[in-house]
Amino acid sequence: MLVVSLGGSPSQRSRSGVLLERSQRWLQAQGVEVVSYQVRDFPAEDLLHARFDSPKVIDLLQQIENADGLLIATPVYKASFSGALKTVLDLLPERALAHKVVLPMATGGSIAHMLAVDYALKPVLSALKAQEMLHGIFAVDSQIAYGEGSAQAQLVPELEQRLNESLELFFSAMARRPKPIDPNLLNERLLSARWSI
Ligand SMILES: Cc1cc2nc3c(=O)[nH]c(=O)nc-3n(C[C@H](O)[C@H](O)[C@H](O)COP(=O)(O)O)c2cc1C
Repeated sequence: MLVVSLGGSPSQRSRSGVLLERSQRWLQAQGVEVVSYQVRDFPAEDLLHARFDSPKVIDLLQQIENADGLLIATPVYKASFSGALKTVLDLLPERALAHKVVLPMATGGSIAHMLAVDYALKPVLSALKAQEMLHGIFAVDSQIAYGEGSAQAQLVPELEQRLNESLELFFSAMARRPKPIDPNLLNERLLSARWSI
């Protein structure tokens, strides 16, 4: 299984990034390969000028094409998801998430905007034709404490439990995902089929 992880925070030190790192480790422990991208790694010029031929964007798209699922996390900015993340999503073709399972996540300063994933991010992921979208995770900043120095960040137990439950659902949704049939195989099956009228 292959999962693409896409971080939407412009900040290097990022709580939504902590959720992605935790998820990545959890998935890797189940034998899932995770390829990680951060919006801040994309050339800003490519994003601001909407360069669809940006090599970094093409690379992301190729990984998504091969992936079973997408993990996507964003900070809440002005009651929505980050603008930087939108500039990346805008460069994906309309069916980029077809056949993919998607787990959206967000962190925010307060619970006031806990529905931002539902009313802002999910409609965009639906427009990209995500096949199955899980409920998603919202965490407030106070639930994620950065570790000192090289120490790991700490999640409050309630968030840790919600995250693990969501990852279980994500993993099983990917496992039961219908695999697209190889067009060559389909052709062969049609040719060798016995037809009766
Ligand atoms: C420009 C900006 C706008 C923000 N707007 C909101 C907001 O509307 N609602 C909210 O709950 N938190 C808001 N926050 C707080 C962030 O969502 C919160 O700190 C988040 O965890 C940051 O995620 P990150 O560490 O991954 O960048 C804002 C922060 C910034 C820098």
